[in-house]
Amino acid sequence: MSSLRLLRLCAVRNVQLAELNLHSTLNIIHGKNGSGKTSILEAIHLLASGKSFRSSKTSPLISTDADQLTIYAETQKSQRISLKKQRSRASEMKLDLEIQKNWDSIARLLPILVLDASSFLLLEGGPRSRRRFLDWGVFHVEHNFLNHWRTTRKCIANRNQLLKSSQLDKEQLAAWDKEFCLASGSVDLSRKHYFDRFLPVFQKTYQNLAADGGVESVTLEYNRGWDKNIPLEEVLLGCFKNDLRYGATQHGPHRADISFKVGKLPAIDVLSRGQQKLLVSALKIAQGRIFSEVISDECIYLVDDLPAELDGENREKVLQELLGLNSQLLVTCVELSSVERCLKISSEASTFHVERGRITG
Ligand SMILES: Nc1ncnc2c1ncn2[C@@H]1O[C@H](COP(=O)(O)OP(=O)(O)O)[C@@H](O)[C@H]1O
Ligand SMILES: [Mg+2]
Repeated sequence: MSSLRLLRLCAVRNVQLAELNLHSTLNIIHGKNGSGKTSILEAIHLLASGKSFRSSKTSPLISTDADQLTIYAETQKSQRISLKKQRSRASEMKLDLEIQKNWDSIARLLPILVLDASSFLLLEGGPRSRRRFLDWGVFHVEHNFLNHWRTTRKCIANRNQLLKSSQLDKEQLAAWDKEFCLASGSVDLSRKHYFDRFLPVFQKTYQNLAADGGVESVTLEYNRGWDKNIPLEEVLLGCFKNDLRYGATQHGPHRADISFKVGKLPAIDVLSRGQQKLLVSALKIAQGRIFSEVISDECIYLVDDLPAELDGENREKVLQELLGLNSQLLVTCVELSSVERCLKISSEASTFHVERGRITG
């Protein structure tokens, strides 16, 4: 089971020094607004992926009066993961004391799913957040995906550079196009495999969650980023003039998207805010479920400010579904009483209180 048993933070936002002995199932982190709850979740996300889930840069996470932050964690299987980030320097991460050049191994070891206010970008934001969501699952489940995706991005970058140059080198472009089409085909295939697997699991989860909410069924469709009936080679030829005009590749897997519809209308235009929240929760829970089915392991859920996101009854349903996954959960809230009923559902849990960056538990 992927879970953390120990987390140590040093100079992460307003948390100067903290040590949390985490429960393998449910951890409730409570405290007033601005006390440092989200910062704890942010630290775990940063350690696992190199990114925060609320700011695009890492430096703002370093405490204002410190030069560097450090995050250290131990998994239940005794793997040790650490990250050091100094201002204006790249992060340094280690797995069992060995320096890691990239996040591949750590990300596989710590599969993290976040449920917070920004999760709604999945419905109301641009395609990028939906691609990220899809690719999280594809990365974990389809093991060749990452290499093909990296090749695709390299091809696009080179292709775009050629398209922008004053004298187009057609021979070079043809060579990149060939590699681009090949890698794009593999990326699309992996995404399609994953999406086909994902759909029924999502539908079941969504039905469970929205059962008596009078919610109509939602249909999901995967769009690969170019016409589903035309090979990419042909699409590239057909829109060559456009690509040249914009100096950028207009079609390909970097434009993939997922659509959510109720009947013929976009779900975002039909569902109430509460229903959208359940839909987003169902998407994240389904992802965790597939992960455990395929990998035979569980992921870690970071649920930020649960009561703000869901009302009492739905809060319980979502937590019950999450607990049913046997994943490790870290849930933040202002008032402990707002999740008390959930504490009763789970036989065991650890609670931590945060006050001005100080954590007691
Ligand atoms: N780099 C930083 N150094 C010190 N304090 C910070 C930094 N960044 C944010 N903060 C402060 O840290 C506090 C914790 O924020 P946050 O984790 O979002 O609290 P919560 O989730 O409990 O509402 C906030 O009061 C914020 O002003
Ligand atoms: Mg917060």
